[in-house]
Amino acid sequence: MRAVDLITKTQHKEPLSKEEIQYLISSYVKGDVPDYQVAAWLMAVYFNGLTKEETFFLTDAMLNSGDTIDLSMIDGIKVDKHSTGGVGDKTSLVLGPLAAACGCKVAKLSGRGLGHTGGTLDKLESIPGVTISLTLDRFIKQVKDIGVAIAGQTANLVPADKLLYALRDVTSTVESLPLIASSIMSKKLASGTDVICIDVKYGSGAFMKTIKDAENLSHAMISLAKLANKKVVCFISEMNNPLGKTIGNRLEVKEAVDCLKGKGPKDLEELCLRVCGYMCYFSGITKTQEEGYSFAKEKLYDGSAYKKFLELIKAQGALDVDFDNFIEVDEVLSIKSKEEEYIEHIDALTLGLVSMRLGAGRERKEDPVDFNVGIELTHIPGDKVKVGDELLKIYRNKKWDDRIIDDIYSAYSFSKEKIEPIPVISEIIE
Ligand code: URA
Repeated sequence: MRAVDLITKTQHKEPLSKEEIQYLISSYVKGDVPDYQVAAWLMAVYFNGLTKEETFFLTDAMLNSGDTIDLSMIDGIKVDKHSTGGVGDKTSLVLGPLAAACGCKVAKLSGRGLGHTGGTLDKLESIPGVTISLTLDRFIKQVKDIGVAIAGQTANLVPADKLLYALRDVTSTVESLPLIASSIMSKKLASGTDVICIDVKYGSGAFMKTIKDAENLSHAMISLAKLANKKVVCFISEMNNPLGKTIGNRLEVKEAVDCLKGKGPKDLEELCLRVCGYMCYFSGITKTQEEGYSFAKEKLYDGSAYKKFLELIKAQGALDVDFDNFIEVDEVLSIKSKEEEYIEHIDALTLGLVSMRLGAGRERKEDPVDFNVGIELTHIPGDKVKVGDELLKIYRNKKWDDRIIDDIYSAYSFSKEKIEPIPVISEIIE
């Protein structure tokens, strides 16, 4: 078999067989097929898609490219949560400890920032001392002891996804339904949890631009999970506007801490409570997901969730951190409104890209990340502003480009009419 022939087939929409996909993925992982050929194949997939069978074969080939995790040593139902990626998405930092405070067993493997979206691992590592490199024994022990662990994939867990994820990031082939479905599901199936809650985002800042695309991705992932006898629930959530008020690693950690203290933005809180409600229900902790929602709210507001967060980061090496004095930048710039109207929309993609250009994300896979930089919204959609009111703050270090200010203004649209809030979750698909 030759990689070039497989690229040609996908380019001409001729379906690949199980063996062909297996060959491409295993040869890539072994280093026998170079990045540039796989990049060409990914681009062909980006434009032409894959059939349902090919998506299943790809998921299977990725799943079998390395080890799988056996979590049977942890009693009870093991739950996990994954996001398809968004801007300002710090949900896992809140939801992991919140669900553990409710009694769920949260065994979570996370990823790094991809394109304009952030990643939980970068956010966790922005907390001084915290490691995301846990051995399997340590990961399992931590879930048994405190109910939650959030770690990076070990080198040999779905190595194919590690390579493909990084390559897609720099070849503009992230936004492809079969590539996203196989990337997420191969990792989730390899990670050994019983219930997987997937936050499927739609909108400008997400990889799926419309609700319809998000629904299609959800159905694809649910079908892949069924073939593996796993339970997947998809929460279709809004990502035209950033989630919460911050974008950038430490700013998002601080916002997650506020949320865990019951003082966070309402969209983030609502998303976490709804998903946690399902986790409690599927773990057998509550009789319904509505009861789970109320139980989670109790645990958020009585301080248990924040206490669990501190246990989580301590278990993963955190030093004493003062989250109120945690962000160190050269300059904080205030961007003021030129309008006197209601804010209708703050474009998540534009702000995600600005934040990446400030240094909070990676343009190339080897780029370092500056944990301190980012954006903090002073007002959110629906708020009325006057001329001169602060729209947002930019936290910046050295990296700067004057066009950033124009880009920020271009992210905003205003309305004379009052704006109705968009529900954070529009649909739940099981
Ligand atoms: N999250 C993943 O794990 N993979 C993708 O391809 C996109 C989001």
